[in-house]
Amino acid sequence: MSNGILLKTNIDYLRLHSHGKVRDIYEIGENLLFIATDRISAFDSVLRNGIPYKGKVLTHLSEFWFQHMSDLTENHLITTKIDEIDTLRREDKELLRERSMLVKKVKVIPVECVVRGYLAGSGWKEYKENGTVCKIKLPPNLKECEKLPEPIFTPSTKATSGHDENISYEEVVEITGEKLAEELRQKSIEIYKKANGYALTKGIIISDTKFEWGVYDNKTILIDEILTPDSSRFWPLEDYSPGRSQPSFDKQFVRDYLETCGWDKKSPPPLLPDNIINITSKKYLEACVKLTGERIW
Ligand SMILES: Nc1ncnc2c1ncn2[C@@H]1O[C@H](COP(=O)(O)OP(=O)(O)OP(=O)(O)O)[C@@H](O)[C@H]1O
Ligand SMILES: [Mg+2]
Repeated sequence: MSNGILLKTNIDYLRLHSHGKVRDIYEIGENLLFIATDRISAFDSVLRNGIPYKGKVLTHLSEFWFQHMSDLTENHLITTKIDEIDTLRREDKELLRERSMLVKKVKVIPVECVVRGYLAGSGWKEYKENGTVCKIKLPPNLKECEKLPEPIFTPSTKATSGHDENISYEEVVEITGEKLAEELRQKSIEIYKKANGYALTKGIIISDTKFEWGVYDNKTILIDEILTPDSSRFWPLEDYSPGRSQPSFDKQFVRDYLETCGWDKKSPPPLLPDNIINITSKKYLEACVKLTGERIW
């Protein structure tokens, strides 16, 4: 770790569960230690730079939302109080504080539960071509980034490597059975609606978001991170204007930079310039303080 940026952990006395693109996950007894590093991924590659505070923002926002949604669903969070985990050594606690959660280890349901309330990204692209989003027919003459009459459920597969692929609701039914598919659809939409309703009062539009669910004690519970700039598109409400793309609170700056710097998106990614790193860090922090009302830096 340097400058407070954590790119990778190496806790050799814990059993490693997995390294994701952003998270390092270890086993602690029956549970998982879910550590958000400051890694950032774009175009399916993990970049070489870290983004200051990113892991803390993801952790703080997820905790905030889990609590905010506790009347609608159970979730995997046990605690973010790292000091209470006796297994961890003191020097590791320093490193992991504010960016880690102890969570219940679940059987992950292999569907990414995407909900879209607005017409953006791949949804807009498909709509322009076919008038549909993930094969769901939508009213004609909608503009780019326009609010949809009702939020829609547009699931995708959880690809183990590379790009997730959109699937139809019927394909979810094939994977999970009808009862669970209906529960995922209904709960994901309900949580999205409540989240966007709240975010609007704080000056943020949640255009779309992705949830993951798991089965624990025979119950379906919300897992992973929720409603963060990594799992969602956040737009500033004051600049919102349908008919064009919107400025956003996530890694859009990083993506835009990578689109123009000549990288082929296959070879190892280039280093990011300092200003791109700093602007991105500020965007994450701004989204976090707007939504939670708390400064974490
Ligand atoms: N409670 C849980 N129990 C088991 N696995 C979980 C739990 N919560 C989240 N996960 C899994 O942990 C991983 C989170 O790591 P990370 O966010 O770094 O992965 P990722 O880059 O999103 O990659 P991918 O989701 O494609 O594996 C996800 O694969 C997610 O499905
Ligand atoms: Mg993830």
